[in-house]
Amino acid sequence: MIFAKENGRKTIGAPDRLFGVSQKAKERINQIGKVNVINSTIGVLLDDDGKLTVLNSVSSCIKQLSPEDYAAYAPILGTPEYTEAVKKAVFLDYKPEAFLQACYTPGGTGAIRNAISAYTCPGDKILTSDWHWSPYRIIAQEIGRDIETYKLFDDKDRFNAAEFEKSLSSLLDKQQQALVIVNTPAHNPTGYTFTDEDWDNLIQAIKKQSGKKVVLLVDIAYLDFAGEAEEYRKFLKKLEHPPVNMLPLIAFSASKGYTMYGMRTGALICMAPDQDTAKEFKDVMSVECRGSWSNGNRAAMTVISKIMNDEKLFDDVVAERNIHMETLKRRGSIFMEQAARAGLRVCPYDSGFFVTVPCENAEEVSLKLQEKNLFAITLGPGIRVSVASNTEKECKKMPALIKAAIDSCSR
Ligand SMILES: Cc1ncc(COP(=O)(O)O)c(C=O)c1O
Repeated sequence: MIFAKENGRKTIGAPDRLFGVSQKAKERINQIGKVNVINSTIGVLLDDDGKLTVLNSVSSCIKQLSPEDYAAYAPILGTPEYTEAVKKAVFLDYKPEAFLQACYTPGGTGAIRNAISAYTCPGDKILTSDWHWSPYRIIAQEIGRDIETYKLFDDKDRFNAAEFEKSLSSLLDKQQQALVIVNTPAHNPTGYTFTDEDWDNLIQAIKKQSGKKVVLLVDIAYLDFAGEAEEYRKFLKKLEHPPVNMLPLIAFSASKGYTMYGMRTGALICMAPDQDTAKEFKDVMSVECRGSWSNGNRAAMTVISKIMNDEKLFDDVVAERNIHMETLKRRGSIFMEQAARAGLRVCPYDSGFFVTVPCENAEEVSLKLQEKNLFAITLGPGIRVSVASNTEKECKKMPALIKAAIDSCSR
């Protein structure tokens, strides 16, 4: 370190693994051409020509913004129109029986950051599953917390409720309160979606921790690309009237669902059981926001507010999104069909951008795949394939290639 302080971080200056593999993919494309390389490292939805999928209805709304929409500051917690609009974006026409409070955050990332900062103490551990979006750890560590994990799947590839309960209870032996992060539906990186039974088991396990408090943060980053809107929102009902020791929070992101990745738009929503808890959320969020990014992106807030308050515009967004969701579904289904045919074991995929192939020697397998011009990210004991960024043809090809690479590495 020269002037900057390391502050316990172990990875400053270390090569970015994701960037490294995607760089290699680009180099290979330059050498042998795009049609001969499968680049499965990109975490966004691409069309069949490899271009970023952008909703035209959202784009035209952005283009109509007035100078006031982007030049003026927004209130610290977000404009009142926005904080109402995000509730609608999450719950649609159904109003949960809770004292809902929302605050603007830059993307789902900001929501996760605020939830961790406000509902845990320095030194605390946050509980999430072994398969998880890796920035959770960085976000936690940057503010003096850390992540602890439980095994997400049991040997029948179902939600491992017993492991969850064990890990939660052991964490609460050391802490008075715990923050749990659950990423569903269409989990990154596995594509798993919690079933009704999973939800019941999870909430039951929390209820059993009597005398200890649990804040449950549901990261719904992929909700709007998971499937039929109402069906995939049914779980929200389960968060109404939670056990007395549980507080549900929702991390909303407009990055995927509204293709506004770069506009950094999200929200943290608190489903408070009473007015005091709702007020506490609002008060603490005012400080969290002021002390991190201050005011949010007003232009982005206006766009989401306009969409949610204009029925025709909202219908256009949904109709357009549904077309892209169908493409994504076809890609995922083809991958899963071919995986079954090739005898390739994958984590239980339901929907979403990614499929994960568990394999102990993931680094070695990944290098083998690179020899075959297939580039994918390794995540601990697994390889993450981005069906969101690959064509149907590529999704059809990948499982056999991965199976062959795994077999050749285990010989
Ligand atoms: C699981 C998960 N949560 C949250 C996010 C946050 O996204 P953003 O900050 O762009 O809204 C992402 C983005 O990739 C994600 O994969």
